[in-house]
Amino acid sequence: MQVPPYLVNEHYDDRYFDVVNAIEEAKHVFFHGSGLTDIFSAVGPGRKEFIIGETGFGAGRLLIALLDFLDSRGDGDIALTYNSVELHPISPGRMASILDRFRAQVGPLIDQLVRAYSIIEIARPGWHRMQLARPFGVLTLNLWIGEALEMVQALTLPCDAWFLDGHGPKKNPTIWRSELLMAIGEKTKTGGTCATFTVAGAVRRGLEAAGFSVGQRPGFGGKKAVLRGIKQ
Ligand SMILES: C[S@@+](CC[C@H](N)C(=O)[O-])C[C@H]1O[C@@H](n2cnc3c(N)ncnc32)[C@H](O)[C@@H]1O
Repeated sequence: MQVPPYLVNEHYDDRYFDVVNAIEEAKHVFFHGSGLTDIFSAVGPGRKEFIIGETGFGAGRLLIALLDFLDSRGDGDIALTYNSVELHPISPGRMASILDRFRAQVGPLIDQLVRAYSIIEIARPGWHRMQLARPFGVLTLNLWIGEALEMVQALTLPCDAWFLDGHGPKKNPTIWRSELLMAIGEKTKTGGTCATFTVAGAVRRGLEAAGFSVGQRPGFGGKKAVLRGIKQ
């Protein structure tokens, strides 16, 4: 399959995501992997508040998939905080082009995200806040423009779940460095989780050193296995 040039992040010579079924892949690897479904189900009636962290916002495909996943569950009264980070923010136009391949499935969600993203000043480092109102409740997107470690250190509350999605460790070792994984461990609630597509030994060991008990799960779309961690 030919990859359109805008899908490859020129800073790392790697795609933003694997194009085949990337929305379903997000659900399998990250939402089921992080145990989000179980976390939602375990909470009783009333307002449900969750905090998610993501390394590598990219084109926002994981966020779009999450909104779609939550809309389809039929839950209500959810207040979700989604903390993410991007060192090389793309233009809203490029984001729209990258996400366009999912338009038939999640068109209105793409429009909503691109609209919100168009308003922020991506040239300004630090936090940018966007609010996305959905049938399940509201998602507050806190996007840090800058380095991942700075974002993690700037968090005032620990996360319930982390989605680690920052290119493969061979292409981008900095986003898997132990200093950053340690900081992520510190900003995770006890019993909180992390999920990622890579099963590289260095990543597994880094997450274990950061306080996660790590295990493999079946992969998706030809990938044999993926990782999940639970903060001890
Ligand atoms: C695989 S892409 C993310 C894909 C994204 N989650 C999505 O679903 O569209 C990884 C992203 O991490 C960003 N990134 C890489 N290293 C980073 C760092 N040290 N700090 C912040 N962002 C970084 C890249 O620029 C890229 O946009």
